[in-house]
Amino acid sequence: MIISGSIKETREQVKEWKKQGLRVGFVPTMGYLHEGHQSLMEAAKKENDKVAVSIFVNPIQFGPNEDFASYPRDLEKDAALCERVGVDLIFHPEASEMYDEDFCTYVDMDGLTKELCGKSRPTHFRGVQTVVSKLFHIIPADRAYFGQKDAQQLAVIRKMVRDMSMDIEIIGCPIVREEDGLAKSSRNTYLSEEERRAALVLSRSLAEGKKLIQSGERDAGRIKACIMDVLKKEALARPDYVEIVDFADITPIEDISAAKNGEVLCAIAVYIGKTRLIDNFIWKY
Ligand code: PAF
Repeated sequence: MIISGSIKETREQVKEWKKQGLRVGFVPTMGYLHEGHQSLMEAAKKENDKVAVSIFVNPIQFGPNEDFASYPRDLEKDAALCERVGVDLIFHPEASEMYDEDFCTYVDMDGLTKELCGKSRPTHFRGVQTVVSKLFHIIPADRAYFGQKDAQQLAVIRKMVRDMSMDIEIIGCPIVREEDGLAKSSRNTYLSEEERRAALVLSRSLAEGKKLIQSGERDAGRIKACIMDVLKKEALARPDYVEIVDFADITPIEDISAAKNGEVLCAIAVYIGKTRLIDNFIWKY
């Protein structure tokens, strides 16, 4: 397995694979890899001849009061997991390799990024789009793999690829959960034992919302209220948002049977203590 911090070396290696007619799968990550990332790498391994993973905690997608400095990092453990899964290349650049001191070019979007996480993290998606498009230039893969846990990010990347005519297929992979329902996240490591228990309210509240839909409810307001009621019962939880949007364009929807492509995203963000966690489900019909 190659581990490289160099844009030039990484690009040349991937180009060489492409020249040999090999299919390349790419998994962009910020490291501190868990079973969610593993499922993306395994999907990439199954569907391609070579797999590249990037490990880069991207400073420009964090707001000034967010957790960039404390975001967990463990390259040795990450590399061991990549090796076990059969990853061929890890791209692990320094921030200075990715961003020159006078860096001033960003990729931004009018729609999709204004709702949900975009409201409380106004510069987040600009940072994600910018780094992902840089990564797609450095690693010209055939397919890139993203988790549905960051459902808005997945929708934004898909739209960016379409709008910018990028030559890469975006594959969305299901959320991976702990046995008790908590969605896997690198940020779960911030939780104390008590907070870890309280965090179960995210998946529990979504399960109640889904049950209500299954019983025939189609009014987004009533479904959101049901989810909010469950969240409010947990003393350590402070909801940032509970939203139901059309998954096609991340716009609010009132009647969930009116989604453009028949896919509705029900998404929540909740502070448990100081840790902001997200979770969601997609309702398809
Ligand atoms: O989902 C993530 O880990 C990050 O947002 C990504 C896509 C690697 C960009 O930094």
